[in-house]
Amino acid sequence: MDDVVIVGGGTIGLSIGFELVRRGVDATILERGRAGRGTSWQAAGMLAPDAEIGFEELELYKLNRESLRRWPDFANRVEEASGMKVDYRDEGTLIVADDRDSAEAIRRLFEFQKEQGLEVEWVTGDEARDIEPFVAPRLSAAIYSKSDHQVDNRRLLRALQVAFEAEGGTLHEESPVAAVVPDDKQPAAKTADGTRVEADQIVVAAGVWSRELEGWTPDTQPPVRPVKGQMIQLQRKRPFDLQHVIRGPDAYLAPKSNGRVVVGATSEEMGFDTTVTAGGLYDLLEGAWEVVPGIYDLPVDETWAGLRPASRDHAPLLGKTAAPGVTMATGHYRHGILLTPVTAEEIANLVQTGETSSWLEPFSPTRFSDAHSSRSLA
Ligand code: GLY
Repeated sequence: MDDVVIVGGGTIGLSIGFELVRRGVDATILERGRAGRGTSWQAAGMLAPDAEIGFEELELYKLNRESLRRWPDFANRVEEASGMKVDYRDEGTLIVADDRDSAEAIRRLFEFQKEQGLEVEWVTGDEARDIEPFVAPRLSAAIYSKSDHQVDNRRLLRALQVAFEAEGGTLHEESPVAAVVPDDKQPAAKTADGTRVEADQIVVAAGVWSRELEGWTPDTQPPVRPVKGQMIQLQRKRPFDLQHVIRGPDAYLAPKSNGRVVVGATSEEMGFDTTVTAGGLYDLLEGAWEVVPGIYDLPVDETWAGLRPASRDHAPLLGKTAAPGVTMATGHYRHGILLTPVTAEEIANLVQTGETSSWLEPFSPTRFSDAHSSRSLA
């Protein structure tokens, strides 16, 4: 493998590129806007497999957990190559309830987490306030999840871009790709201005835009859709303080070391719409205020809406596609920042060796068309 073109310069594209150039592969990223300023920039940076475990998603949980295990080494590599910090924080997460219904919901979650052998602890309201004094006085119980960490995704993206270029990668920003051109020997990406960029292999890491590319057949087009998430950034102002991620029933708060407090997120099926709405902000602020009332006096820095790339089964699409010469790494939905290390390392290995690892197998991009054809044959 000599050279690879990666479509998309978010956390997934940049990190795959970084892992490839470290392995001596010539990698070029084509990014439609500015690198790292799409979905990955708009995320909250939570690395939370335990808090986000889904009752029907144990295969995805294993991948999430494996990626978390790899995060500290990955962060060190990126920090070393870039000379920049990514603000990896391991204080843990408090999952809190603010009424009887939500207390019941977190009790069910806790029982499921314990059944799965997760290291989570049930704490009383007073114990939760000992851990994090600014949680609401009326909260009666919480789950303390020490292994759910976080990173500053914006710092990560700046560092990843520097690390990728410092290791010899080539980044073209403002270079939208219109089409993939599958081919066994010399696949290509065709840019919007008609330039054909050939490589030994194409990796599509274009998040919500992956489906929009031309060149897919009905069988290879990834079933990825955007799921809108509105967010608010507050600025920490003393005496207010927060060290842990707090997850309430209607909002989460992720405090970063530079004083940003990221509050998220709505979940809306609105296509590519990124309008920030009064209702969205109202719901978020109310949800955050109910669990951490001290946010009331904090300055609002920024509001925005991001688009999560969700696949049909909400699990990522990772590996070779049925389109010759085209590999895919997209559909990370709510877990893009968490899944960055495992995606980057396993896709870089796949591209280099042609071997699909057991980590990638369950997430093959062909799983939807395979399921369809086995149903048709039955
Ligand atoms: N993982 C957080 C979110 O999707 O809002």
